[in-house]
Order: sequence, then C-alpha cells, then structure tokens
Amino acid sequence: MNTKPKINHHKTQAQIFQPDIQSLKNNKPIGIFDSGVGGLSVLQQTHRLLPKENFIYVADSAFAPWGGKGDEFIEQRSRIITEHLLEQGVKMIVIACNTATASIIEKFRKQYGIPFVGVEPGIKPAVAQTNNGSIGIMATQGTLSSQRYKELNQRFFNDVNLYPIACPGLADQVELCQIDHPKTIKLLESFIKPLLNEQVDTIVLGCTHYSFLIPFIQEIAGQSISLVDTSQAIAEQVKRLLKEYKLENQETNTHSRYFTTGEIEQTRRVISKLLKKNIIELNLLA
Ligand code: DGL
Repeated sequence: MNTKPKINHHKTQAQIFQPDIQSLKNNKPIGIFDSGVGGLSVLQQTHRLLPKENFIYVADSAFAPWGGKGDEFIEQRSRIITEHLLEQGVKMIVIACNTATASIIEKFRKQYGIPFVGVEPGIKPAVAQTNNGSIGIMATQGTLSSQRYKELNQRFFNDVNLYPIACPGLADQVELCQIDHPKTIKLLESFIKPLLNEQVDTIVLGCTHYSFLIPFIQEIAGQSISLVDTSQAIAEQVKRLLKEYKLENQETNTHSRYFTTGEIEQTRRVISKLLKKNIIELNLLA
C-alpha cells in the first residue's frame, strides 16, 4: 500500500476519539505504551533502529502489573492511554505489552483510525530455531489464557511441544528495578527449572518486562538454551509500516517524552536506570 491509512469516519458507539487524517504527519511522535516499564525494551530497539523518530512512552506504573487483571481492566487502562496518545498527536501506536496486545489490539485497530503495532510471544521464530522441538514460553497469565495465544498455540501444535509457564511476580520485580535482586533470581529459577525438566532448548520471552532480565535468564537456563526476544522484530515492523504509510520523519531534531501514572521521582529513577540515561521529560498522566 502506498497511501496513508484511510481514517474510518463511520462512528460506532465505542468510537470515542478519532484523529483527523491530517494529524498523521511525518514529524509527529510514535506512541508506545505498556503496563509499566517493560515496553522500554521495545522503545530502546525502535529508537536504535529509527533514530530520526520522535517518541512518547507511557508507563501505567500506578496500575502495573496488568498480567493477572483481566480483559475489562486492561481495555479500560489501554483506552485511557491510547486516547492520551492521540491527543498528543501520535502517528502510530505500539502496544509494547503482550498481555494488552492479546486482549485489545484487534478491537482498537477497528475503533481508532491509526496504525497499531502489537507484540506477541515469538513462537514462530522459536519453531524455526529449535533443534529438539521443545520450546518453553514465559509470559503472564493474561497472555497465556488469551484467545490469541490459543490460536498461536494451535498453529504450531503439530510441529513442536510448547511448554507455557505463567510468571507471576516477575514483572513487578522489573517495575521495582530489582533486576539482580535475590528475590528475582529465586523467581526466575522457579519458572525456568520446570522448563529445563521438559528438556526445552529454546525459551520465548513472552512479556516485554523479561527482556531486562535476559542475562540472568540465560545464566540460569544455561548458555546452550536459545532465548527468543521479539523487541527487535517489533522495531522492524514499525519501520516497515512507517515506510508503507509514508509516515517516516524527515527532520533530524528529535526527542522522546515520557508519561507515567505512577510516582514521578520513583518512575524517573527506574526508567533512567533501565535505559542507562537521565530521563528529564517525564510527566504525570493523571
Ligand atoms: N509487559 C507486559 C507484557 O508484555 C505486561 C506485564 C504485566 O503488566 O503483567 O505482557
């Protein structure tokens, strides 16, 4: 497709906010959101790949984690954030959260006239990579019980053995930036050991928070285990879509802004630590 996306002006009851097609300008920011800081792993890769783009990141820190909270809650939070991003004039939204993607992306694509990119457990690359056909999937309970995951599972059911494991508590540790804390390591061991007992040779990181734990996951799992992280693939998908819709930024004076629903100074500390740079432009999303 060579044209900009068509905005659907046909209003349904659920359509609360529709951007005008004129607002999808090339120099507008890309919005990225997650339940908290996990999606920063997606922001990091996307920024690296697209250094000329402006970004707005929203961390719903006051309400994180979303993983065990159910569809209604996730939809409500995602809608508030999406509409905030649309008010900021974003040209595209990346749902940097497996749990929210599984729950609401199809609905939001229909309701909001803007391109959405989502993230889902990288089972397809894992299937391509595995040698023994045994694949572990670490994700939230929300992701693993979603219809979208069930469909993904069914697609590969005949080719490989998939061992999903819900990892409650893990995203919270990343939210607290307790990456190398003994409690985090203990949790990781308790989730990874059962996968190793199943002789998996590949582990899919099905939650964006877990990308920040990669060195520890690798150490516990062992160097022979392949880890599949989708953040690079998401960045490439964003690049492809910007090109397809002719929405690439041509200007060079770029910047990133951050919003949180949580406590500002605590969130600033965590984001700065995870991204290894000082975050100045952080605002409260009330
Ligand atoms: N980072 C999210 C994901 O990718 C959600 C984690 C959570 O809030 O439970 O699923």
